[in-house]
Amino acid sequence: MQLFSRKPIAALLPEEGDSSPHLKRALGTGDLVMLSIGAVIGAGIFSSIGTAAAGQLGPDGVTVIRYGAGPALVLSFVLLGLVCALAALCYAELAAMIPQAGSAYAYSYATLGELVAWIIGWDLILEYAVGNVAVAISWSGYFVSLMSGFGVEFPGWLVHGYREVLLAAPDSPLKALIADAPHILGKPILLNLPAFAIVAAITWLLVLGVKESARVNNVMVAIKLVVLAVFVIVGMQHINPANYHPFAPNGFRGIHQGAAIVFFAYIGFDAISTAAEEVKDPQRTMPRGILIGLAICTLIYIIVGAVATGLVPYQQLLANDPLAAAFDKSGLQRFSWFISLGAVVSMSAVLLVFQYGQPRIFYAMARDGLLPPFAAKIHPKYRTPHITTVLTGVFVALWALVGDAGETYDLTNIGTLFAFAIVSVGVLVLRRVDPNRPRPFRVPFVWAVSLLGAAACLFVMRGLPGEAWVRFGFWLAVGLVLYFAYGYRHSRLRAAQQQH
Ligand code: ALA
Repeated sequence: MQLFSRKPIAALLPEEGDSSPHLKRALGTGDLVMLSIGAVIGAGIFSSIGTAAAGQLGPDGVTVIRYGAGPALVLSFVLLGLVCALAALCYAELAAMIPQAGSAYAYSYATLGELVAWIIGWDLILEYAVGNVAVAISWSGYFVSLMSGFGVEFPGWLVHGYREVLLAAPDSPLKALIADAPHILGKPILLNLPAFAIVAAITWLLVLGVKESARVNNVMVAIKLVVLAVFVIVGMQHINPANYHPFAPNGFRGIHQGAAIVFFAYIGFDAISTAAEEVKDPQRTMPRGILIGLAICTLIYIIVGAVATGLVPYQQLLANDPLAAAFDKSGLQRFSWFISLGAVVSMSAVLLVFQYGQPRIFYAMARDGLLPPFAAKIHPKYRTPHITTVLTGVFVALWALVGDAGETYDLTNIGTLFAFAIVSVGVLVLRRVDPNRPRPFRVPFVWAVSLLGAAACLFVMRGLPGEAWVRFGFWLAVGLVLYFAYGYRHSRLRAAQQQH
């Protein structure tokens, strides 16, 4: 039963008079909403929206890997907004109660016990670090097209990673790179240098400190909102109503499977909960930041989705840069570079928040003894978890250097939905096992919200291809092996319990 030892909440809160270096409380509600928009609006709306609307065929060009939503993509966004709102309410209750750096990891430690907490901590790597691999690669794609608008061209083998080229369709121009690239020992050298470089730059910024990073984020969020506003205002004047017919070409199956991929666009509203130890007055600030951020992003997605599918027939959105492509094909080329610029800036903000979140989860896990102690070190001057920040940077940058974006979207989505489901159940469990603890924010109709929230997440997960499930199972199995090899034996909670 020790596997299910629950960490007392008191032990999750910072100790009074604790003089060891700790994280700095510098963020307010406005900063959190900006962080949330920073984390949420990015590769999902600028890239994955194309596959969600148009669907995806296998390499043979015949087998359907997933059905597209068509113009009913707006319904996928509405559906996801509802699903995420349920999960967000649960996140808000737990984040206000347990303002601790580890987010869902810390909540599950208090509610469902150590083994589940470890699984969630391990699972969150899929959301944060692996998710950022996909964002960095999408960032690079838009960056390269932006630069080419200014007449700067890069050799193809320096801007496409090995797996991206390997997985490209047989008739894709990328395949030519295999012959064009320099070879070492008979292997083509195919590297995505821009993706590597942006992750390196952001990692450096994060080591320097949270307040400085939040300021940079605010500027990036303002730019992304202006660019999307231009997309909507200019785009609306060029909508062809005929493009809305048929509205749902693949019925509910298309809306469901479209939602399962475009869920990536929603990931991140929860990421700000990892900042709980760095916000002022977290009991009030956290729920507000999470819910306001999610509401704003949902509204933006519905409007952008409606405009994009009205501009061109939905099949034409199947591109690496669907929003820019929609403008190009509607005769609005003079604005395309502006959309690319917006995409580059938006994704930089996403990268920033996720690179920020991941080390804080490692930090929380190491503080509990589930990861080695070096991961809990705080920089004496900058007061940031510098070692885990750098390690995360190296992991993401190297994977992005050779990886494929599409391959990582589904893996990120399945891992994140799983975490959301656990958090939703966790709220209910904690209400039962610890009913009297003060709850600065309470989920209304908790039974319905919690159980519906978990069921809704599982439902969206079912829309993902079978391959994603297999990879996810493999990832969890590796995590369990690591837990029994290290965390199980070094857990502080278990050591303390054994002393009593
Ligand atoms: N929601 C984030 C994005 O779309 C992860 O890039």
